[in-house]
Amino acid sequence: MSGPSTYEPKWAIERWLDARLPIVRFSADLMSFPTPRNLNYWWTFGGILAFCLAVQIVTGIVLAMHYDASAAGAFRSVEQHIMRDVNYGWLIRGLHATGASMFFLAVYIHILRGIYYGSFKAPREVLWLLGCVIYVLMMATAFMGYVLPWGQMSFWGAKVITNLLGAFPLVGKTITTLLWGGYSVDEPTLNRFFSLHYLLPFVIAAVVALHIWALHVPGNNNPTGVNVKAKTDTVAFHPYYTVKDGFAISVFLILFAVFVFYLPEALSKADNAIPANPLQTPPHIVPEWYLLPFYAILRAIPDKLMGVLALGGAVLMLFILPWLDRSKVRSMRYRPTARLYFFIWIVACLALGWCGSQEPQGQVIPGIAGPTLIDYDINSVTWLSRIAALYYFAYFFPITFFLGVWEKPLPVPDSIYTPVLPHPPTAAIAEKG
Ligand code: HEM
Repeated sequence: MSGPSTYEPKWAIERWLDARLPIVRFSADLMSFPTPRNLNYWWTFGGILAFCLAVQIVTGIVLAMHYDASAAGAFRSVEQHIMRDVNYGWLIRGLHATGASMFFLAVYIHILRGIYYGSFKAPREVLWLLGCVIYVLMMATAFMGYVLPWGQMSFWGAKVITNLLGAFPLVGKTITTLLWGGYSVDEPTLNRFFSLHYLLPFVIAAVVALHIWALHVPGNNNPTGVNVKAKTDTVAFHPYYTVKDGFAISVFLILFAVFVFYLPEALSKADNAIPANPLQTPPHIVPEWYLLPFYAILRAIPDKLMGVLALGGAVLMLFILPWLDRSKVRSMRYRPTARLYFFIWIVACLALGWCGSQEPQGQVIPGIAGPTLIDYDINSVTWLSRIAALYYFAYFFPITFFLGVWEKPLPVPDSIYTPVLPHPPTAAIAEKG
C-alpha cells in the first residue's frame, strides 16, 4: 500500500545510521504515508487518543512519585499531600482524573466512527481486534486507577466488581482470593491494583503500536468506504493530516481545560472524598460514567453469573462484529436502514448508561437458594435496562447479521473522488482547461 520507501539520507551520519537502524527512514515513511484525501474530522480521534494516552502516562508517573499505596496512607497522600502540598499537584491530579474521562469520550467516538464507516470490515479485522483489546485494557486500567485514592467509592466499587468474579463456578473463589491477596478487599488488593495500574498503560501503548502497524498494512478506510484506487485518491499524512489532527487536538484541549479548571468535580462522586470505611456501605455504589452501560446490563439480570456473562457478552459482541456484519458495502453513508438501527443502538447505549446511574429501586428478597427472578420487585428502571440491553444484543444479532444480506444499499461511488467531483481528476482538469 505505502510502496517503496522514498527516503534519501542526505548526510553521512544519516547514511551510517540508516544502514544500522533505519529509524529515520521509518519515521519519514510514516510521515509520507498515503492517506485518503477525504477523511473527515471523525478520523482525528485516533490522534486525539494517542495524545490522551501520553497525557495519562506522563501525569500518572508524576502522581506515582507522591502516592502512598498503603491502606492507611493512600487517601491522605492523594487528598491532602498531592492536592495541597505538592506543587501543582492539584493540576496534575485534575489532568489525570479528567483525562481518564476525556480518553473514554474519545475512544467511544473512535469506536462509533469505526462502526458507522465499516472500518472493522475486511481487510481491517486485526486492526479492529487490537482496538477491542485496547478498549478492554482501558476499562481494567481505569477501574484499578479509581480504587487508588482509597475513598468510599474506590473501596466499595472494588468490592462490588471483584465480587462478581466469585460468581464463576469452581474457579471463582480462587480468582477473587488471588486478586484480593486475602479474603476481602484490603491493603494487598490496593498494592496489586497500584502495580497493575502502573503497568497496563505501557501494555496499552504496546498494543497501540501494533494497532498503528495493522493500520499501515491496508491503509485507512475513509467516509465512502470505497478502496483507494489511484494515487490521486490520497495525500501525504504530513503535512495534511498532522495539521488537521493538531487542530482537532487543540479544540479537544479546550473542552478538556473547561472540565479541569471550571468543573473539576463534575465527573467525580462526592462519596470518594470520604476515606474508605469497610464498615459502612455507601447508599448508592456507581462506577464512573464510561462503565455505566455495562453496569446496567449487569444489574438488569437477577442472577449474578448470568449478569456477569451478559456483561462479558456485551464486550464480546464488539470483538466478533467483523464476522457478524456480512454487508458488502462498508460505509453506512450508503446503508440507510443500517444507519437507522445504528442510531437506535446509540440511544439504547445512552439509555443503559442512564439506567446504570440510577439507584436500585427494587427490593431483593432472597429465597432460600438465593434470589430468583420472582424475588425481585421489578421497577421501571429495571425494565428500561432490560429492553435497552435486549436491543443492545439484538443490534449485533440478528439485526446486523441479517441486514447485510437483506437491505438495499444506495449506489456506491466508483472511487473516493467521485462524490467530490463527478470525474477523475485528470478529466476534471482537462474539462476545466
Ligand atoms: C488508546 C486507544 C487508541 C488509540 C491511541 C488509537 C489510535 C488510532 C489511530 C492513530 C488511528 C488512525 C487514525 C484514525 O483513523 O482515527 C486508528 C484507527 C483505527 N482504530 Fe484506533 N486507537 C485506539 C483505540 C481503538 C479502539 C478501542 C478501537 C475499536 C474497538 C479502534 C479501532 C480503530 C479502527 C477500526 C481504525 C481504522 C480507521 C479507519 O481507517 O477507518 N481503535 N486508531
